[in-house]
Amino acid sequence: MDRRKFFLLTYGCQMNKLDSELIASRMIQGGFEETDREEEARILLLNTCSIRESAEDRVWGRIGAMKARKMKDPGVVIGILGCMAQEHQQFLRAKMPHIDVVCGTREFGRIDELVKESMETRKGVVATGEGGNGDLVHREVGQRPMRAQAFVNIIRGCNMPCTYCIVPATRGPEVSRPVDAIREEVERLVADGVTEITLLGQTVNAYGHDLERGTDLALLLRELHQLPALRRISFVTSHPSFLTPRLMEAMAALPRVSRYFHLPAQSGSSKVLKAMKRGYTRERYLARIRDLKSLIPDMEFACDFIAGFPGETEEDHRQSLSLIEEVGFSQSFVFKYSPRKGTVSADFLTDDIPEDVKARRNQELLQVQEQVSLAKNKAQVGEVREILVEGPSKRRKDRYTGRTARNRLVHFANEDPSLVGRYVPVEIIEAQAHCLIGELREETRTLQAGEDEWLGMRNREGMGR
Ligand code: SAH
Ligand code: SF4
Ligand code: F3S
Repeated sequence: MDRRKFFLLTYGCQMNKLDSELIASRMIQGGFEETDREEEARILLLNTCSIRESAEDRVWGRIGAMKARKMKDPGVVIGILGCMAQEHQQFLRAKMPHIDVVCGTREFGRIDELVKESMETRKGVVATGEGGNGDLVHREVGQRPMRAQAFVNIIRGCNMPCTYCIVPATRGPEVSRPVDAIREEVERLVADGVTEITLLGQTVNAYGHDLERGTDLALLLRELHQLPALRRISFVTSHPSFLTPRLMEAMAALPRVSRYFHLPAQSGSSKVLKAMKRGYTRERYLARIRDLKSLIPDMEFACDFIAGFPGETEEDHRQSLSLIEEVGFSQSFVFKYSPRKGTVSADFLTDDIPEDVKARRNQELLQVQEQVSLAKNKAQVGEVREILVEGPSKRRKDRYTGRTARNRLVHFANEDPSLVGRYVPVEIIEAQAHCLIGELREETRTLQAGEDEWLGMRNREGMGR
């Protein structure tokens, strides 16, 4: 078969971005060639997201534009993959005849075959079962976008009953990958230059409950921590209900496990949490944070909030605002509630919070978070931090960007591309709510792998944080 160029566009979460790396791997192994120029591709693939209506609207718009291209050039193959393919398979099949391949979240392991089948038969191909999840793909480790960083899937799907969420429907039930398969993939990534990994799952800390007894995230972290080349190990996204003492002890015992912890609360009100079926109260959430802080005093936390869930009162909303201040999150991701058809909250509750109220609450949550973030960032001015250099800044050509071990974005003046992928010390000279500005400092000594940025790296004696 002649080599055909494909163009792959990705929407949605980190999981989807990693799936796209696997989709590209599989396509290349199947004899196709990737291009980042849509106009020169004959195969157009969209890996899609259903989490909120706005996410879907972007994709529908894009599908419309691709239809126009297909009208002019009927030989073009259009494939819709991922969560929207899973969710809207009937609609896509019935109403969108210009779409050639519909490939669900557990079928992209054979995407190359599906594309070939559609090219050969010139018929629509729909695969939305469980015929080929990502484990079928031998990952091309060189395919990743960042030199030093990589994401690794450890558990797919979600078993949780959160009443607002479409993910369990689009991704199916939880399936953990065997420890050996994960270790093998991480070892190959490390051999290719990766020093920072992020383990992925929708409920990443539920990892292992379906595997051999005793297999959990704590055990996996201990395994991976033995690889000396790994300087930073993170995992997202954790659910508060599975934050076990065993996991917390492992995190505390393993210094190269990230001290930035994303633990979405979704709301600060126990009443709303109950309606969301999150499985914990505000008090239990706070108790988890306290437990972890008592083991790891300098742990930093990040959060997700949904603004305007059905029945959310002003008092409930104030409780979310106060949770931000009480925990002192370093970052929060805030979303306006979006009813998803087929979920409990969309089908059984009224979407009763007007759009302008949702927007205001969303804005207030962001504002309070900004104040907290700014205060925390200001306390860092004058400190020297080790950052992993990611690349040139998106906004300013004379600046590069890196991240501290606590996931803070640092911009610093630099023209030296050889720093990308390296760990370098920078002195923080300015703080903003969303980033820090730093200046490169001479490396006075080589940092040991995993050496904590808060230890020993203080620039001026006596500068508190
Ligand atoms: N599995 C992760 C992430 C799920 S999706 C977790 O449980 O934390 C990412 C975020 O999108 C969620 O944390 C939630 O804040 C938000 N989200 C999910 N469904 C939503 C909906 N219907 N409307 C608005 N935000 C939603
Ligand atoms: Fe959705 Fe809840 Fe599962 Fe997260 S844990 S993916 S919010 S159902
Ligand atoms: Fe979106 Fe699916 Fe991820 S709905 S957020 S791409 S799991």
